[in-house]
Amino acid sequence: MDKFVIRGGNPLLGTIRISGAKNAALPAMAAALLTDEPVILENIPQVRDIETTRKLLAAMGAEVELGYGRAHHRTTLCCRNLISPEASYELVKTMRASTLVLGPLVSRCGTARVSLPGGCAIGARPIDLHIKGLERLGAKITTEHGYVEASADRLKGTEIVFDKITVTGTEDLLMAATLAEGQTVIQNCAREPEVADLAELLNKMGAKIEGAGTPTIRVKGVDKLHGAKHRIIPDRIEAATFIIAGALTDGDLNVTECNPDHLGALLQKLQEVGIKTRNTKDSVRVEGNGTLKAADVVTEEYPGFPTDMQAQFMALATQAEGTSIVTENIFENRFMHAQEMVRMGANIKIEGSRAVVRGKTQLSGAAVLASDLRASASLVLAALVADGETIIDRVYHIDRGYEHIEEKLRGVGAQIKRIGEIFPKRRGSGAA
Ligand code: EPZ
Repeated sequence: MDKFVIRGGNPLLGTIRISGAKNAALPAMAAALLTDEPVILENIPQVRDIETTRKLLAAMGAEVELGYGRAHHRTTLCCRNLISPEASYELVKTMRASTLVLGPLVSRCGTARVSLPGGCAIGARPIDLHIKGLERLGAKITTEHGYVEASADRLKGTEIVFDKITVTGTEDLLMAATLAEGQTVIQNCAREPEVADLAELLNKMGAKIEGAGTPTIRVKGVDKLHGAKHRIIPDRIEAATFIIAGALTDGDLNVTECNPDHLGALLQKLQEVGIKTRNTKDSVRVEGNGTLKAADVVTEEYPGFPTDMQAQFMALATQAEGTSIVTENIFENRFMHAQEMVRMGANIKIEGSRAVVRGKTQLSGAAVLASDLRASASLVLAALVADGETIIDRVYHIDRGYEHIEEKLRGVGAQIKRIGEIFPKRRGSGAA
C-alpha cells in the first residue's frame, strides 16, 4: 500500500488548480443510466471512485469511455444495452456511493439489485431513506442476502418528505422521479451544490425539475430522457482543503478554477480565525498572517459548515491560539483523525460528538494511519506544519477523492513524496 512521506515547515506559495467535484461526478455518471443515448461529462476528476463507478456501470453493460487527456478530463457513457441492472457487493463495498444507481435502474429498467453498502469507518450510514422514498414511488423492495432488490412497472409520482436530510438520498430519488408517471414533490431535500449540478444535467437530458438546491424539489415525470453534455462543477471540498493548507502553512496560495460561492461557511470561519482571503468569481487567494485565533465549528448540512471539511479544520485548530470546539453533527464516528494528530503532539480531547482542541501546539512528524478520505487529507495538512518527517500509510483513502494531491502540493513548495510498496506485488497476484 502506498505511503506519503512529508517533511513539514514549507509555506505553500503559488497556484493550485481545482479538479471537478467527485461528489457531483458520481451521481452524474449514474444519471447516464436513465437514457439509451450517450451522455458526455467534462471536468471529471481522475480519482479512484470514478474508476470504481466506471467498472460498476460497465459490469451492467454500459459503454464507458474515460479519458484524462491534457485538454480535458472527460467520460462518455452509453447505457443503451443494460444486460444486468445489478451493483455487486465486490464493488459496493469499496464505494458506498454505488447505491446512487438504485433509483436510476428501477426507473429505467423496472428492476434493480444493489448490494447494501455495509458499514463505513465514519458511521453506520444506512440507506433506509433511499428505500423508503422508492417505496413511496411505488417500487416493490425486498432486502435479503445483503442485497436490495427493487422492481416497478413504472414509478408513480407522489409526495415524499425525508425524515433526515440525505445528499445521495435526494440525488437517488431525484433521478428515479424523472421517469415516474406524474409529479413528484420531495421535501426536506439536501441543498448541496452537487444536487443542483445533478438537476442541471438531468434537465439538459429532458427532465422537468424545479427547486434543486432548495429544500423542496418538484419533478414532472417524462417518458424518456435523451443524451446531453455537461461540465461537472469544481470540487469545493478539495478547494477548502487547499485553502486551509495555505492558511496553515502561513503561505500565499492562489486556489483557482473553484467556486467561492460554494465556500461561504468556510471563508466566514477563516475570517473568524483571522485569515482574510481575496476572491474572484473562480479563485480564492489565501495569505497567512502568522497568527491564527481559535474558533468553534459545528457541522451542518449545506449551506452550514460541511462535515467533509471538519477534519481539515481540526488540523488548522491545532495551530490556533486558544480552545476550539469542533462539533460533528452529521456522522457518529468522524473523529478518527484526532488520535493520529494527538500522536503528532496535538492537544485534542473527544467528548461524544465534540472535540476540544487546545492550541497552539507544535506538531512533530510521526508515522500515522489514514482511516478515511477526509481524515487522510487532515493528516497531510498536519504533516505540512509538523516538525520533521511524517509517514502516512494507506493513502489509497486519499486517492479516492483527491486528484494527484502530492503533485499539486509539490507544485507550491511542499516536501511530499509517494512511496509505493517496497516489494511491488508480483504480476497476477490479484488485488489491484
Ligand atoms: C454524501 O454522503 C457525501 N458523499 C459525503 O461525502 C458527505 O460526507 C455526506 O453526503 C454529507 O454531506 C457523496 O456525495 C458521494 P447523507 P451521503 O446521506 O449521501 C444519515 C466524502 O468525503 N442517513 O447526506 O451518504 C447518514 O447516516 C463523502 O466525499 C440515514 O440515516 O450522506 C448520515 O448520518 C464522505 N439514512 C446523515 O444521514 C439514509 O438513508 C447524512 O448522510 C441516508 C442517510
